[in-house]
Amino acid sequence: MTIFNLGSINLDHFYSLSHLVTAGETLAANDYSISLGGKGANQSVALAKAGAEICHIGAISKKDRPFLDEMQKAGVALDNVAFLETPSGHAIVMVDEKTGENQIILSPSANYNIEQEQIRIALQKANSSDWALAQNETCLIEDFLSQAKTKGLKICYSAAPFVAEQTSALISITDLLIVNEGEAESLSEFIKKDITKLALPHLIITLGSKGARYVGEQGSFSIAPFDVNVVDTTGAGDTFLGYVLANLTKGKPMREAMHIAAAAAALQITRRGAMRAIPDSQEVELFLGNISKGR
Ligand code: RIB
Repeated sequence: MTIFNLGSINLDHFYSLSHLVTAGETLAANDYSISLGGKGANQSVALAKAGAEICHIGAISKKDRPFLDEMQKAGVALDNVAFLETPSGHAIVMVDEKTGENQIILSPSANYNIEQEQIRIALQKANSSDWALAQNETCLIEDFLSQAKTKGLKICYSAAPFVAEQTSALISITDLLIVNEGEAESLSEFIKKDITKLALPHLIITLGSKGARYVGEQGSFSIAPFDVNVVDTTGAGDTFLGYVLANLTKGKPMREAMHIAAAAAALQITRRGAMRAIPDSQEVELFLGNISKGR
C-alpha cells in the first residue's frame, strides 16, 4: 500500500522573535535558520517516519536538490519530484519564542509549476488499495485527486492553507478530511451546513492545544492532547496528519491512530523547526511508554 502525496516543498526561513510583528513594526530576529519544509514535504516525512510507503509528487529548483536529502533519509520516494530552473517555493516562518506560535508567508514558485504529466506518470504505479493525499500549497490539486479517485484510490485531503471554494468542491470525493477548528467553521459557513453532518467517511477537526475531534464511520469522539513544553508549533499539524494516516492505513482503529499522532505532534512542538523536528516512530513509542508508566 502506497500513499501518493501531491505536496509542496518549501525552503523554510525561520526567524525567532521576541514577539510576533504587528503592522508597521520592524523587529530584529534573535535567530535565523533555513531548512526544508512545506506542508506537503513535512507530511511525507511524517508518514515515512511513521512507517508508511510514500511517493512524493512535487517540484523544487535544481540548485536546491541537496535539501531533499532529508526526505530521502526519512524514506520518501522522490522519483516523481521535478527539478526545475524556477526558484523553489519558500516560506518566511516567524516564531514567537515565548509561545511557540507562528506567522507564515508563502511564496509558491516551483510548487505551482508541477505538471499534469508528472501526476499521470506517478499514478500509473497506483492501484485501488493505495491512498492519495494533497494539501492546498500546489497547483493541480483537483486534477490529481479526481484522477486518483477514478483509479479507486482513497482520498485524504488536508485543506490548508484554507480555500473554501476548493475544499467544498472536493468534499464529495474525500475519504479523510482534516481541518482545524477555524477552517471547520469557515467551511460550514461556506456550504451552509455543519460539516460534522456531512457523513464523510472520516472527518478530523484539529483543536490545537485542546486535542482533536473525530466524526465518521468509527463514531464520534475527541482525543486529549499531551501536556508538553511548547517551543515551536510549526509543522505540528503536518506531523499529526502523517502519523494518523500512516497508522490508519496500517489497520489501526482511528482512536488509536489519533492518540499516537497526538503524541508525535506533542514531541514535535518541543523542538525548533518543522520537518527537522518530526520524531521517528521509536521516539513516539518511547514517549507513549513513559507516559503510561507515569514518567
Ligand atoms: O505546516 C508548516 C509548513 O507550512 C512550513 O514548513 C511552511 O513551509 C509552510 O508550508
